[in-house]
Order: sequence, then structure tokens, then C-alpha cells
Amino acid sequence: MKDTNKLIIANWKMNPQTKKEAEVIFNKISIIVKSQKRVEVVVCPPHPFLFIKDKIKNIKLHLGGQDVFFEKEGSYTGEVSTSMLKNFGVEYIIVGHSERRAQGDSNQTINKKILATIKASINPIFCIGEQKRDNNGFYLSFIKEQIHSGLYGVTKSQMGKIVIAYEPVWAIGSNAIREATPVEFMEMKIFIKKIIADMYDIKIANDIRIIYGGSVNPLNASSFLKEGEADGLLVGRDSLNSKKFGSIISLAATL
Ligand code: 13P
Repeated sequence: MKDTNKLIIANWKMNPQTKKEAEVIFNKISIIVKSQKRVEVVVCPPHPFLFIKDKIKNIKLHLGGQDVFFEKEGSYTGEVSTSMLKNFGVEYIIVGHSERRAQGDSNQTINKKILATIKASINPIFCIGEQKRDNNGFYLSFIKEQIHSGLYGVTKSQMGKIVIAYEPVWAIGSNAIREATPVEFMEMKIFIKKIIADMYDIKIANDIRIIYGGSVNPLNASSFLKEGEADGLLVGRDSLNSKKFGSIISLAATL
């Protein structure tokens, strides 16, 4: 059964710079989440700040990792394993973010990370998105290839764990060319569901959660959730501002 609560995810990226600041933001978000029903909130801090979940206990506020390595353990300097993340209470892991892809993660690497994440009973937030759009629809083949490669070997019964985050690279961050529109998201959502239906079946395509990310803010969030029918949002910059992130959470909870 599809979870109809909206999934609101904070991707803090490489911010903030101190554990004190991380605690303050996390605490403020935790207070907001306590008073909300019908919304699922996940915070993905940088790995050194994962301890905050133990410090600020709130069963309604979920913890996510921003990346993971696919090997179980061993000589992999700088990497973290699924067991380490699980040990901190991580329930979701962002895999295949465009900023990780820009650092060298290939579709094949992302596939291994997704399989390792599922094996650890953690939910992968599988990020896909094109660099730019073109009039010939090449960006659609690009998205299709990302999905096919990323989900290679993922079984039907494992698909319930997957969340797909559509994040067009051209709409992300302070260098964004422009914001995406809810209609552009909606069209992409239909396209992704068609690919999933062809790979698996209609039920899996219906049930999979597809969320939107890229310059989400309190002003555009509700249009992506309502008109775009996004199952949730992956928020970058505005997730570090507890007031802005709080208002995104509150409006998601009313839908
Ligand atoms: P911004 O919201 O800062 O554009 O970042 C989006 C993103 O990359 C979330 O993963």
C-alpha cells in the first residue's frame, strides 16, 4: 500500500559548519515535527552530525544519510558503510545525488549503493535528473538509462523501499538556470511511472513514491505537492532555515 503522507526530506549537503549549529537547527525542526500529523520528515545531515538523533530524541523525526559506500567493511579510506549509518538510526540514504554523480559516481556505482542500502533494510532515496533539456527528448532517454541502470537487480518485493527523487540539475542550487514548474514535474512523474510499469508492473508503478527536488521553498512547495502531485520534496538550501523548512512541513501536513 502506498504511504499517502507527504515525505519531506532535508538535504543539508556540506552544512552547517559546527555541531552546535547542527543541533540548533535539528532541535527546531524536531519541535515543529512534534506538532504535525500526516507528514513524514527526514533530515539528512553530514555524517559527522548523525549523533544529533541520539541527543535530540524524537521518534517522529527520521534520520537520513547523504551517501554510502557499497562494500560492507574494510580498507576504503573516507567511506562509510550501511551498518555504520544504521547504527546511528539512519532509515533513508540519498543515493545518486547529482552532486555525487559530479564527483564521479557512475550509474553502476549508484546501482551497487542502492542494492547495499536495500540489503541493510534502509530506504534508498534514488536521485535522478538531467543536466539540461533539449527539444528532441534526449533528456528522456538519459532519465530512462539512469532508472534502468540504478534499479538493475532490484526485485519486485524490494521496490517498496525505493523513493525516487526527480531533481533536474538545471533547477538545483544557487546556480539554477530557472525553477522547474509543477507541470514539468508531473510530466516527468508520469514518464518515470511508465518506465517502472514496463520494468515491474502497474501496481509497483502506482505505489512508488516520486518526490521533487530543486530550489524548493515555502512559496513553490505547495504547487509541486498539489498541482505537480509530488509525493514529497527534497529540500536543499531552505532545509537549513528552520522557519522556511518548518513552513514547508506545515503546508505538506495539511494536504
Ligand atoms: P536546493 O534546494 O538548494 O536547490 O537543492 C536541491 C537539492 O539538491 C536537494 O537534494
